[in-house]
Amino acid sequence: EQARQIQQTMAEFRLSKAQLLEVKKRMRVEIERGLKKETHKEATVKMLPTFVRSTPDGTENGDFLALDLGGTNFRVLLVKIRSGKRRSVEMHNKIYAIPIEVMQGTGEELFDHIVHCISDFLDYMGMKSARLPLGFTFSFPCHQTSLDAGILVTWTKGFKATDCEGEDVVELLRDAIKRKEEFELDVVAIVNDTVGTMMTCAYEEPTCEVGLIAGTGSNACYMEETKNIEIVEGNEGRMCVNMEWGAFGDNGCLDDIRTQYDQAVDENSLNEGKQRYEKMCSGMYLGEIVRQILIDLTKRGYLFRGQISETLKTRGIFETKFLSQIESDRLALLQVRAILQQLGLDSTCDDSIIVKEVCGTVSRRAAQICGAGMAAVVDKIRENRGLDHLDITVGVDGTLYKLHPHFSRIFQQTVKELATKCDVNFLLSEDGSGKGAALITAVGCRQRELEA
Ligand code: BG6
Ligand code: GLC
Repeated sequence: EQARQIQQTMAEFRLSKAQLLEVKKRMRVEIERGLKKETHKEATVKMLPTFVRSTPDGTENGDFLALDLGGTNFRVLLVKIRSGKRRSVEMHNKIYAIPIEVMQGTGEELFDHIVHCISDFLDYMGMKSARLPLGFTFSFPCHQTSLDAGILVTWTKGFKATDCEGEDVVELLRDAIKRKEEFELDVVAIVNDTVGTMMTCAYEEPTCEVGLIAGTGSNACYMEETKNIEIVEGNEGRMCVNMEWGAFGDNGCLDDIRTQYDQAVDENSLNEGKQRYEKMCSGMYLGEIVRQILIDLTKRGYLFRGQISETLKTRGIFETKFLSQIESDRLALLQVRAILQQLGLDSTCDDSIIVKEVCGTVSRRAAQICGAGMAAVVDKIRENRGLDHLDITVGVDGTLYKLHPHFSRIFQQTVKELATKCDVNFLLSEDGSGKGAALITAVGCRQRELEA
């Protein structure tokens, strides 16, 4: 009976192919809403123009600074790009911490902290007086009207600094640099991490026209026909669109597959009601879904001898790296118990079997619905180009994709099953999105010279 009850709980997370096809179809509907003039304002999947009109062609050249804010790590980078026959990219970077008080303090504090880190980096590199062009990877939704202007639509993930939403983030950075009065920089481009990742991968592989992040958050971008992006003027060529697909479902269109546990995660979050798809499939939230299920199973007396410990009540205990360890096939159950022990959870052997199954079920659904989203994207590109068959490369980054033992495989499998007319090649980004941001900055600088 106990086993049956547990299976019943898990069954809600097991989606059929028909359900996944439905997710794909709904994503396609939301994509169209985001692109159309009449509907884009209230669209949940925002389809934000990026003003990146092409992938790299090898002629990019120069020395650039890049910032990479919004993933697990905040980085400052120096990227030296050389064009021509022996084209090359050399990178130096330093990782800085962003304390939670700064992530959730005032906007001024956040940007002062960023500029403080840049200052430290320039000292470290001995480059204080260089006045370099800078590309800012800022992995949050921004309304762009040009390459170097981006109004923050809303914070996502763990950020909640005040006085930033509705403001141009590039101006906030420029103001903070002025306040510091130590060095000058030329902020040339603001770049979403999906876009930076696509560009990083496209430098090596020109067929890469899609970017995916499966990490702390979840999002994708791709090269759309400019004529289809109705809020952008012009009918020629293509432009990269930052989909902000994490907000898929915010209008209720995924409610039939969301469980009570998904709702609990949402209610416990910094941004209730927002980023509902992201909360079902990204690293920041998978562990929280698992925790909500474990709490429920414990309350019902099926786990941990019915005792809800303080640990289990603690938000964020199951980070991606723990889920990845628990689900690793090489791990004996005894080791699963050791991990739970580390987290402060006393488990029996039966408990550890259940915990492992819960983790596996939650991450499988995540990989599948993420795959359904990607299937919608590649099919859209195929139709844009009037093709019966599309070969395309997706550049991918993110700790969930890179660290989890099963996510990437199930994700790829799902894309294959749901987009049968596409052959999709997945390329892991090794260098992060900073390299891509520098490549975009190089193009931006060239454009400025032409216009001047
Ligand atoms: C990094 C990119 O490699 O991956 C970042 O440089 C991106 O721009 C990050 O945000 C995403 O992964 P995660 O897991 O750190 O959120
Ligand atoms: C969140 C952000 C988005 C970013 C993604 C991955 O969804 O809103 O801009 O690309 O996380 O980091």
